[in-house]
This record gives sequence, C-alpha cells and structure tokens, in this order.
Amino acid sequence: MLTRETITVGHRRFRVSPWHAADGVALLSLPVDQSAPTADEVSRALEVVRSRGCSAVMTSALNEADAAAFVALGFVEDDRLHVLEHRFGPDTPPPGRNPAPGGARLRRGRRSDRTTALELDRRAFPEMWRLDAGGLADAMAATPSARFRIAEAGGVPVGYSVTGRGGTTGFLQRLATDPDHRRMGIGSGLVRDSLGWCARRGCERVLVNTQVTNTAALALYDTLGFTRLPDDLVVLSWSDT
Ligand SMILES: CC(C)(COP(=O)(O)OP(=O)(O)OC[C@H]1O[C@@H](n2cnc3c(N)ncnc32)[C@H](O)[C@@H]1OP(=O)(O)O)[C@@H](O)C(=O)NCCC(=O)NCCS
Repeated sequence: MLTRETITVGHRRFRVSPWHAADGVALLSLPVDQSAPTADEVSRALEVVRSRGCSAVMTSALNEADAAAFVALGFVEDDRLHVLEHRFGPDTPPPGRNPAPGGARLRRGRRSDRTTALELDRRAFPEMWRLDAGGLADAMAATPSARFRIAEAGGVPVGYSVTGRGGTTGFLQRLATDPDHRRMGIGSGLVRDSLGWCARRGCERVLVNTQVTNTAALALYDTLGFTRLPDDLVVLSWSDT
C-alpha cells in the first residue's frame, strides 16, 4: 500500500505519493535544490516503489539534467511543459491591479477554502493534471512563503491561484478559472494579483510552467508579459508491464 513518504537513497531524497489518476501508480518527485540524481539512485528508488506494490511511475516535471537518469532506465516522455518567465524591469513593470477582474472579487484563500479550490481544479483541468489534497498542500508548501487567492462572482467561487516565493523568484504554482466563467478576465486578474504580490516583495522575476499544448494559458501569459525560456520540462512515465 503506497502512502506519501520521502525515500532516502544514500544522500538523495525522493518524494513518493499515490498518483491521483490511477491505482497502483506512484508519483515520484525530486525535492528542489538537489543535484541531478544518478541512474543508480533512481533505480534504487524504483525498487522501493515496486516493493510498495506499484507497477508504474509518473514523475513530477523534470528539467533535462534531472530527467537523464530516468530516461537511461527506460522512462519515456509523457508530457512536455514550457517554462515562462515574467521579469520585472522598466520594460515589464508589474501589471496594475484589477480590483474586480471579470466582475469577480479576489479574496484571501483560507485553509477551509482548499476543498473549494480542489473542486475548481477538478472542473478546470484534464484528469492527468488535476491536483488532489496532497498535491495542493505540496504546491502551497513548496516555497518559504505562498499566497492563496479565491476569485468569487456573486459569492460563488469561480477561480483560484497559488503563488509561491523563494528569494527573488516568484512561482505561479496553480491557476484555474471555472469553465463557465472563462474569457471574462478572471484568470488575468489572478495572475496580475500574483505578479503584484511578488513585485511588492522584491522578486525580480516570476516563473510558471504550462503544457506546450495549453494554448489558453500560453496566450494569457503572453498578454501579461511572460516570455518562454529555452529549456522545457518533461513529465516521464515508466511501467514494468
Ligand atoms: C488558462 C485560464 C486560467 C484562463 O482563464 P480565463 O479566466 O479564461 O482568462 P482571461 O479571461 O483572463 O483571458 C485573458 C486573455 O488570455 C487569452 N486567452 C484566454 N483563454 C484563451 C483561449 N481559450 N484561447 C486563446 N486565448 C485565450 C486571451 O488573450 C484573453 O483575452 P481576451 O479574452 O480579451 O481575448 C483558463 O483557461 C483555465 O483555467 N484553464 C485550465 C487550467 C489551466 O490551464 N491553468 C493554467 C495552467 S499553467
């Protein structure tokens, strides 16, 4: 039975959790600020995962250096993400705040709003990319400080965002608008809020990852001054069948 745990192989740590979208599949992720794992380390982590009864693994989004050891062991690319950057400077100042994006009001998300955010997430994303409660908690805890915002229209939740900050870099960790409220400015209002928060706290840039096929999100970030970095991230999968 797989539970959320941290596996230590030598000095290397791997985070393991059940993958929300299918039984018997483990989600394997690497904590930030570690060097790239070796094939031997990944292989030993895989042994542990198999001993927990899993016959398939998905990875978190990995850069090329981190992905190399997984690829050497037969992992294959399942999805690809562009990394986009918004740099604050004279040419790209933080966009002004929009207090009522698409007629919605932004408010602080509380712990009790996590269920609401998960329901929005379920409606907004295809199954592969949905977050479960553990994934949302991880997104909020991934950086030393984080901002959780809910957009409401007429008292009904219609969108949410999670933004993190570490040092002078901000991370737009999660963004979703309810499918019935799209193209009304809610998503861009939430991103403006994230950018403003990061800028006020001294960030030099904000990063976001999005699937290469996510034309809506890519168009939205383009309108708000994000540019694509040269290196993509990949999500890899492995199965012993
Ligand atoms: C991406 C997403 C958050 C956009 O939310 P939204 O509230 O519809 O966005 P906005 O109304 O603020 O759109 C602002 C601009 O972005 C662009 N845009 C948004 N959706 C678009 C689409 N489907 N096609 C093309 N451009 C789009 C447009 O330029 C739009 O301005 P316009 O409507 O005046 O043309 C929403 O589609 C969503 O929740 N998608 C699923 C979850 C997701 O992909 N999240 C981001 C992951 S990184």
